[in-house]
Amino acid sequence: MGSTKNVFASKIGAILAAAGSAVGLGNVWRFPTEVGANGGAAFILIYVLSMLILGVPIMVTEFAIGRHGGEDVTHAFQKMSGGKRGWRWMGLLPMVSGFLVLSYYAVVAGWTLYYLFEALMNGFAGKSPDEFTNDFVAFSSDTWQPIFWMGIIIAMTCAIVALGVQKGIERSAKVMMPQLFFFILVLVGCSLTLPNAGLGLSFLFSPDFSKVTGSVVLSAMGQAFFSLSVGIGCLCTYACYFRKDVDLMKDSFSVAGIDTLVALLSGLIIFPAVYSIPGLSPDAGPSLVFITLPNVFQQVFGGIPWLAYVFSLIFYLLLVLAALTSSISMLEMSVAYFHKNLHLSRPVAAVIVSLVCLALGIFCSLSFGDWSEVKMFGLNFFDFFDFLVAKFIMPVGGMVMCIFLGWVVDERVLRAELTNNGTLRSPLYSTYRFIIRYIAPLCILLIFAHELGLAWLDWL
Ligand code: PFF
Repeated sequence: MGSTKNVFASKIGAILAAAGSAVGLGNVWRFPTEVGANGGAAFILIYVLSMLILGVPIMVTEFAIGRHGGEDVTHAFQKMSGGKRGWRWMGLLPMVSGFLVLSYYAVVAGWTLYYLFEALMNGFAGKSPDEFTNDFVAFSSDTWQPIFWMGIIIAMTCAIVALGVQKGIERSAKVMMPQLFFFILVLVGCSLTLPNAGLGLSFLFSPDFSKVTGSVVLSAMGQAFFSLSVGIGCLCTYACYFRKDVDLMKDSFSVAGIDTLVALLSGLIIFPAVYSIPGLSPDAGPSLVFITLPNVFQQVFGGIPWLAYVFSLIFYLLLVLAALTSSISMLEMSVAYFHKNLHLSRPVAAVIVSLVCLALGIFCSLSFGDWSEVKMFGLNFFDFFDFLVAKFIMPVGGMVMCIFLGWVVDERVLRAELTNNGTLRSPLYSTYRFIIRYIAPLCILLIFAHELGLAWLDWL
């Protein structure tokens, strides 16, 4: 490991690793669920807008802080602030968040791995709709099975992170991301040929603005946050490994573009499939990909069993790949801290962090079964972790980073970082700075307020 430098060897490796973090279950699982629940196309429009005015600027912010520091997030904040030691504390943000987010994300990632295994074993063949529902409920509420599959996901993630920045994170992104794109395109092609695909398309692409409420707007912004992995210090961690010639603004647009494209393509897979069977509803919620879809695959391709088999297999392979590229970035957040600040070797840090995540993950997994009644602040462990990360840490972290870069950091340092010391033209610089100083903190405050359920937002 000694010779592996802590830097992504190529520009494309850096983009793919960041895109790998962004593209995940948030795109293939959470996005369709949110679109289904919030009325379709109008939600998508607002989501794309949120990406542009909120997601991309915060991503640029994280990239700038991380790349400027180069070492790890702790040093990055201190260096960017002009040496103020107080800002070192921000290094704790990704370290703590890494544990929290991986612990519950790995539960759902484990489910996808189990479903991939089932697909491989042809376990969906001949099942009735009720059986799909019962089997999912039985599996997710079981004590040991989901823990076992979650353990495998965490072990795979640990092995990749232990290999280091170039040999582990960058190489795996270069291998997995192209496969992921390929599988998505194959599935979109198949899905669009299904009967009634047009109904799914019109749900996705004809906006019904009467469905837009304040709550829909704010959910779309929240989804943009989660999907881009911003606000939590994850992309800041990766940016510490960026080379000095990376164009941070351009890459942010590339990563956000890839992320949005994958979310939309996932919609193109899922909604035509759901509409191909009369009576199924696009707003089935989180169970959409674990109950509704395997059922759809069996029913629509029922006459051609091998097609149902291949379609299911590719779909769950896609989910597993998407989950893995994101979970790698989650583990790296904490591992980087232990490796740099506590001087543990990478493999040792990776194993320790993984074991703690596994232990916390067990609590989250049991939330669906034995411990469903164990509550913290009225939420089970899984929902509590999700709430803490997506609805508290991400908005607050994003806001602090914007305020840091917009108001604390010397403007010349920021400009030099974003123009690569004046060698790049940066026509959007002023717009970007205006957004991080005023617009983004204000919008985040709104999301935050909404998610906490403040009643005064009801008028929106
Ligand atoms: N963006 C990932 C997804 O869409 O699945 C989720 C995620 C990754 C959230 C990394 C937070 C994070 F730090």
